[in-house]
Amino acid sequence: MPKINSITRILVTGGSGMVGSYVKQVFNDAECILTDLADLNICDRDSVMIAVEKTSPGLVLHLAAATDVDRCETDRDWARKVNVTGTENVVSACKNNGVKLVFLSSAAVFDGSKPLPYIEADKTGPLNFYGKTKLEAEGIIASRLKDYFIIRAGWMVGGGGKDVKFVGKIARMMAGSNSIKAVNDKFGSLTYAKDLLACTGKLIERGSPGLYHMANHGMVSRYDIALEIKNILGLNKVEIVPVSSSVFPLPAPRGRSEAMENSRLKEIGLDGMRNWKDALRDYLLNDYSGVSAK
Ligand SMILES: NC(=O)c1ccc[n+]([C@@H]2O[C@H](COP(=O)([O-])OP(=O)(O)OC[C@H]3O[C@@H](n4cnc5c(N)ncnc54)[C@H](OP(=O)(O)O)[C@@H]3O)[C@@H](O)[C@H]2O)c1
Repeated sequence: MPKINSITRILVTGGSGMVGSYVKQVFNDAECILTDLADLNICDRDSVMIAVEKTSPGLVLHLAAATDVDRCETDRDWARKVNVTGTENVVSACKNNGVKLVFLSSAAVFDGSKPLPYIEADKTGPLNFYGKTKLEAEGIIASRLKDYFIIRAGWMVGGGGKDVKFVGKIARMMAGSNSIKAVNDKFGSLTYAKDLLACTGKLIERGSPGLYHMANHGMVSRYDIALEIKNILGLNKVEIVPVSSSVFPLPAPRGRSEAMENSRLKEIGLDGMRNWKDALRDYLLNDYSGVSAK
């Protein structure tokens, strides 16, 4: 696991979330101070200022966010408060104390119409409110800080026994059903949270701040992922039925594609992200602990 040169202490917001659950394991050479909503609400400016001043970290790993895309669409005040105002507070604290910032963003900043995976230079144009707040937060960081890493991740994989996202949900559904439906007309890139943090560590070590895409390689639909989960877990009796996204109407609009290419990481020779199938296999067999073959 990566050692980040000279950084001995990392302050983490949103530390009990999916990505946060891997921080201590990956950055095991540093002292990781994990905070969550209960002990550090990022919407409370004074608390954020005090936390950064008091702990004097070498890096703030800002993971706290309103991540429920559909709730963000209907509860816009909450989404804006957490994703924009909360990030603004973290940025101010980093600026005042000269601390490096890592912020996770998303492919939801794009409109989804590009046939090929998105690269960093592509024009943004979010379709849903979550994407709008993430893009606004990116802008605040880029305009106010110099020492920052904005990392756009794909569909996150992780959480182990507490996995409540797509992979965990599908794996559990497969265990309890002979047939499941999976959408085959929306595309994205998987991002195993553990891979993302390891690659982030190497990027920080290199010291080239800026905007990066960081996803496991490959452009996949939920249907492709479901087929691969079935294959990895040996759930041979389960039928996976491809369906259109219109079968599962959702409050927040999604573009056709949220797939990304790690173009800037490649340019600097740091694209250590693996193929999505290898990452998914590693996750399901060595980390996820919900379903076994039947
Ligand atoms: N999940 C994905 O597919 C995905 C994809 C691309 C990028 N990202 C980004 O990656 C980052 C981490 O995502 P994740 O999947 O780890 O999300 P997650 O599992 O939803 O974790 C987010 C954490 O933030 C906390 N939080 C929410 N509001 C807060 C507040 N006001 N103050 C402090 N903490 C607060 C949550 O606490 P509670 O649970 O108590 O509310 C939760 O622990 C986020 O920036 C997200 O936008 C995620």
